[in-house]
Amino acid sequence: MKKIKIGMLGIGNIGQGTYRTLEMSRARIEEATGLNLEITKILNRHPERDRGIDIPREKYVTDIHEIIDDPEIDIVVELIGGIEPATTFMADALRAGKHVVTANKAAIAANGELLQKIAHENHLMLRFEASVAGGIPILNAVTTALISNEFSEVQGILNGTTNYILTKMTENRQAYADALRDAQAKGFAETDPTADVEGIDAANKLSILISLLFGIGVAPDQIPTRGITTVTSEDISFAREFGYRIKLLGSARAKDGEVTCNVEPSLVPEDHPLANVNNEFNAVYVTGNAVDKLMFYGRGAGPLPTGSAVMGDIISIARKIEKNAAYDLLPHLRYDAGLSFAGEGKNPYYIRVTAPDHPGVLGQITSTFGVYGVGIRTMMQRAVASHSDTVPLIFIVYAIEKNILSTALDVLVGNGSVLRVDNVLRVLDF
Ligand SMILES: NC(=O)c1ccc[n+]([C@@H]2O[C@H](COP(=O)([O-])OP(=O)(O)OC[C@H]3O[C@@H](n4cnc5c(N)ncnc54)[C@H](OP(=O)(O)O)[C@@H]3O)[C@@H](O)[C@H]2O)c1
Repeated sequence: MKKIKIGMLGIGNIGQGTYRTLEMSRARIEEATGLNLEITKILNRHPERDRGIDIPREKYVTDIHEIIDDPEIDIVVELIGGIEPATTFMADALRAGKHVVTANKAAIAANGELLQKIAHENHLMLRFEASVAGGIPILNAVTTALISNEFSEVQGILNGTTNYILTKMTENRQAYADALRDAQAKGFAETDPTADVEGIDAANKLSILISLLFGIGVAPDQIPTRGITTVTSEDISFAREFGYRIKLLGSARAKDGEVTCNVEPSLVPEDHPLANVNNEFNAVYVTGNAVDKLMFYGRGAGPLPTGSAVMGDIISIARKIEKNAAYDLLPHLRYDAGLSFAGEGKNPYYIRVTAPDHPGVLGQITSTFGVYGVGIRTMMQRAVASHSDTVPLIFIVYAIEKNILSTALDVLVGNGSVLRVDNVLRVLDF
């Protein structure tokens, strides 16, 4: 049995999770696949640091060239994160004839096309299952078992940190700041949570899904993105009264040759399967023309779930190496389907405003909405204390373009029928 040697870049959360997954499953992997896998070198900036994992120190290297120039290494696994130097390390590894596995959504969303091209030119494999939804094998599923489908829609809860925070705000009626502190204390949110709470992480993952599902390149910074920092406990409780849960969704739709998408806190109907995806769990809900609606659910982060996805990629490459089989590029990022990107498209919205509490205000609001074609589906006026001279009004409106809705709301603030717009959130149509 040939030993397949692996060079790993990074021994942080996912590096350790991958190492542990291989060690705890070594006998099972050998029995099921006949493969003898060994992580022989690990790139690491601080080899002296005690990481609480039993790894022979001689495996640690501090110079990338000790891995890239090692002729015995077949597969390089990139687990350092960030766009650079990760992209350069992966490109150099491919040029040096090594297959590459990565969990890095930022690098794949930014440079997946380039890396795939280098892999293709060198007849090598590039796999990145763990980059979207951690342990959920969504990329493999949509590009193999479901390949005969034409996909029309995807909605995903793609970030465990924000889903944990929103769940705590909903279940425990916590304020955003308290729920964030709770998530940080439990290790579900980083000290600097910006990439998660501002939706950047979800936009990277959605960009990868859009390429795989629809065959078009939409860069993460082109995706209209809003994080969860403006969601308040008032929004959560009003949404509940209307029969919705608020979730940070990455959504994309392909219709009539156009792709629309966004990442936004969204009101999800309580009877939608995504409404009951709670805490740090992730889910991806796809619609295909043959399979119809399908939901994938599981742990989207964490050392072992993500390590499981990384090991899956390593094993599928190792099987091909062992059999001298032809290389493939799966999952295959595509940019050539001829669709065009049409921004955010039309969506129904939840609108919470504060209005002066005097007769005729509602009439002014509905008539301005009428002028801009904003159709009201439901509305609620909350009773307030008798001494208050303002009143919260909540509307759910039919699908409309966001910029038209924003113009109508600006007019209402301008003419004084609305004192302030407290929040506008997308409503998931279903
Ligand atoms: N955490 C998750 O749950 C999760 C889930 C899915 C995907 N991912 C992805 O997995 C990747 C790794 O995430 P992580 O959470 O494991 O990160 P992490 O805990 O910060 O670990 C990063 C590792 O990379 C090393 N490193 C960073 N920059 C380096 C450089 N320039 N040269 C050499 N080594 C370098 C660090 O070394 P030192 O420790 O010596 O500084 C550390 O060992 C990221 O792409 C992330 O997006 C993470």
